Amino acid sequence: MTSLTDSAAWQALIRHYESLQASKTSLAALIESQKDRLARCAVALDGLTLNYALNLATGETIDLLTQLAQQRGVEEWRERMFAGQPVNSTENRAVLHTALRAKDDASIMANGRDVMPDILATRHRMGKFVEGVRAGNIKSATGRPFRNIVNIGIGGSDLGPRLATQALAASASGPQVHFVANADAWELSSLLTKLDPESALFVIVSKTFTTQETLLNANLARDWLAESLGENAIQQQAVAVSSNVDKALEFGIGPDKIFPMWDWVGGRYSLWSSVGIGIALSLGMELYGKLLAGAAAMDEHFRTAELSRNMPCLMAMLGIWQHNFCGTAPARAILPYSERLRDLPRYLQQLEMESNGKSITREAMPVETLTVPVIFGECGTVGQHSFHQALHQGTQVVPVEMVGIVNDDLGHPENHRTLLSNMVAQAVALAFGQECGATPFDTYPGNRPCTILTLDRLDPYRLGLLLALYEHKVFVQGIIWGINSFDQPGVELGKRLARELAEPSKANSGTSRPDLAFLASLYKTVSPEE
Ligand code: F6P
Repeated sequence: MTSLTDSAAWQALIRHYESLQASKTSLAALIESQKDRLARCAVALDGLTLNYALNLATGETIDLLTQLAQQRGVEEWRERMFAGQPVNSTENRAVLHTALRAKDDASIMANGRDVMPDILATRHRMGKFVEGVRAGNIKSATGRPFRNIVNIGIGGSDLGPRLATQALAASASGPQVHFVANADAWELSSLLTKLDPESALFVIVSKTFTTQETLLNANLARDWLAESLGENAIQQQAVAVSSNVDKALEFGIGPDKIFPMWDWVGGRYSLWSSVGIGIALSLGMELYGKLLAGAAAMDEHFRTAELSRNMPCLMAMLGIWQHNFCGTAPARAILPYSERLRDLPRYLQQLEMESNGKSITREAMPVETLTVPVIFGECGTVGQHSFHQALHQGTQVVPVEMVGIVNDDLGHPENHRTLLSNMVAQAVALAFGQECGATPFDTYPGNRPCTILTLDRLDPYRLGLLLALYEHKVFVQGIIWGINSFDQPGVELGKRLARELAEPSKANSGTSRPDLAFLASLYKTVSPEE
């Protein structure tokens, strides 16, 4: 493949940006000259609408970006992914989170085997367990129904289920679901003081079942249960979701309480598998199914809509336009105007930055351009009273993505109107600014891009649409940049070094790295057995 930056489409985009600059085309000018721009720049699917009118993008921009995506083979790679080919090239694995939400009668092959029977059988088992717990038929060691569920996991084994459970809290009808991720014992131990061991169920989610933080917390939970209910309580009061069945058994989870994960689903793409058990316990299987159905509808749109009207492609291409051509800061603000979506920025940090935080191409060459920007954010209106000042008048232009909920479902119309009017006000202030303030201090430059996503309402189906939209956006960007979005070797080094210090046997035998030994001694991180 020709180099990305030498490609005809890339070069055409450079010239296109120069001509927009030369003609001083601004967002205000675009809106002024295209009366139907708001409608023209909207793409909707089943109650989720993407509006990119407040981006410096003309019809020609979209045409050129589409050509870039085509030249980079987005359509071919998309088919490879859906067909179960090993698009995770460094690990030689298929990438099939889309199969987890595919229709029951689908047949999807990976490594020469149809993955659907396993998916359906696991979902069936999960459903029986979930409904059994919710109905109070599956009980604790002392015969009590479960009132509190504690999901222990980190990264992809935490962020997606945590976000979805919180986002859909208004539809919750089951036991209360809590999430614990950090190695800092404060998180779990302070939660445990509020729980009754006789009605607490632990869901230990770890694809590898070797993750330090998760195992530490799982041990703590096991000890806590054992203290009041005896050693065997763990068998009845914990389930595991893992692809490492042996380790889960060794830990003490009953064999009938282990839900499998497969190597073709990455942690950050896994909430659609039994990793989502916490979501299902909170909502019930019917609503959980709607979450999957929303994601499946986005899969279908992504697979079939032409690139210039394809929501994930548009978002991916506009991000590339801003960061690689328009010279915006290598950062992106995610601003959900909904308290229930407050974890969206954290979830997207992992999804985008762990996936596309790469500087080596699939061909093992250094990348030629900036890849993923820094993702950060906060829910509106809270962020307005924190970092928005820099978004409006800072020296760097940071593209913004807003997520709003159109219809109030909480019965507080005034609050809801306030949220939405603030969202609109911020978008207008960013895009159009205000030139002639009385002093230089109240001059607002404007011309700062803002993409708006709206959900008709915050329900499982629309949340499924939204999360799958971002998954595919990340995929398209990875393809255009020429990187593998499905591994995370950078994370592994830190894990290995931390493990080296945590295991006394290794520490005793001395580490091969003097830098590690030096810093470790400074912070007394070697274990007490030393
Ligand atoms: O944070 C790095 C990571 O490897 C993520 O990719 C993954 O989601 C997380 O650790 C947890 O891994 P596991 O599910 O194996 O415990």
